Amino acid sequence: MRIRRTAVAAAGLGLALTLAACGQNAAAPQSPAGSSAPAAAPADAPKVGVILPETDSSARWEGFDKPLLTEAMAAEGLQADIQNAQGDVSKFSTLADGMISSGVDVLVIASIDSESGAAVAAKAKAQGIPVIDYDRLNLGGTSDYYVSFNNTKVGNLQGQGLSQALQGKQGAQVIEIEGAPTDNNATLFYNGQQEVLKPLYDNGTLKLVQSQPIEKWDNQIGGTTFEQILTGNGGKVDGVVAANDGLAGAIITVLQKYGLNGTVPVTGQDATPDGLQAILRGDQYMTVYKPIKQEADNAAKLAAALAKGDTAAADALATGSVDDPKGNRQVKSVLLTPQLITKDNVKTVVSEGQVKASEVCVAATQAACGSLGIQ
Ligand code: BGC
Repeated sequence: MRIRRTAVAAAGLGLALTLAACGQNAAAPQSPAGSSAPAAAPADAPKVGVILPETDSSARWEGFDKPLLTEAMAAEGLQADIQNAQGDVSKFSTLADGMISSGVDVLVIASIDSESGAAVAAKAKAQGIPVIDYDRLNLGGTSDYYVSFNNTKVGNLQGQGLSQALQGKQGAQVIEIEGAPTDNNATLFYNGQQEVLKPLYDNGTLKLVQSQPIEKWDNQIGGTTFEQILTGNGGKVDGVVAANDGLAGAIITVLQKYGLNGTVPVTGQDATPDGLQAILRGDQYMTVYKPIKQEADNAAKLAAALAKGDTAAADALATGSVDDPKGNRQVKSVLLTPQLITKDNVKTVVSEGQVKASEVCVAATQAACGSLGIQ
């Protein structure tokens, strides 16, 4: 059994007997309700290690997740070490080793792929450290909890957005540029899209040109792959499923080159500043807004409960479950609700604070911001 670092620190204060008797760590200090900048956690506060997967696949990881997790962990009285593996599985594993040996009480991982993520989770588990899968589920893994959005629903919204944009265009030709085949979320997004689009392909309302997963969600490769499919189809496309805003941005650059931007609807996801600007310019039809603050807050609350060994409190937070078909198990989950964003409700993302008006309202979008009351 692993010796908990916080219990060791408390023993130094002469509290060992009390703690041994009740089997609890010292309670984490709470930040005052409503305070916007929670005080830094004391040196003996429980420690949480967080590993994010990449920076290049989406602006969300460093732009939204990192700062929001930093705030959320501090608000729960936790000391957080938040690192980014930069798409490198060996770096991911080295970061995890470092966190485990530094004595983290909980590990939160958004993995690059299920296999390397599951390997890290198994190592942590062997040391008695609870693991939370963050955003991406590790198939065949052993993590204790999963915090994410309803990712099939994300795909549903992308399919609905595209079909809405192409209404009345009988036989419209669609190219699908999907996420990484090693990311379970990409599979769920795809499945969710197909729930909406497949019947339309089957009855001839829409015509699928090609569907292509993109390794590592690499935005540049997404753009060049899209260009090859487009030119291979004689330059003809009526609508594009782009699995996230990063891929959408690369696709829009190609559409611009062929003078097709603004007339060909493109989907997206993450409600990034670039994605929202593209929507306001008319180059992207929609995005999916996932309030990352909720995801970060839930991860921090779960981590705080687990750091105290309070699995009842953790279970009370994880009101749902997801199926891991590879591990043949149900994983206790917090699954949050995504929202469809088109030009009409870009304002929601700003008013809820995920992005600032100044990040969205630039020269090319100033007029749209004005008429939509975004300020
Ligand atoms: C996340 C998306 C993100 C994508 C690429 C997915 O697992 O859910 O929000 O755009 O990875 O980073």
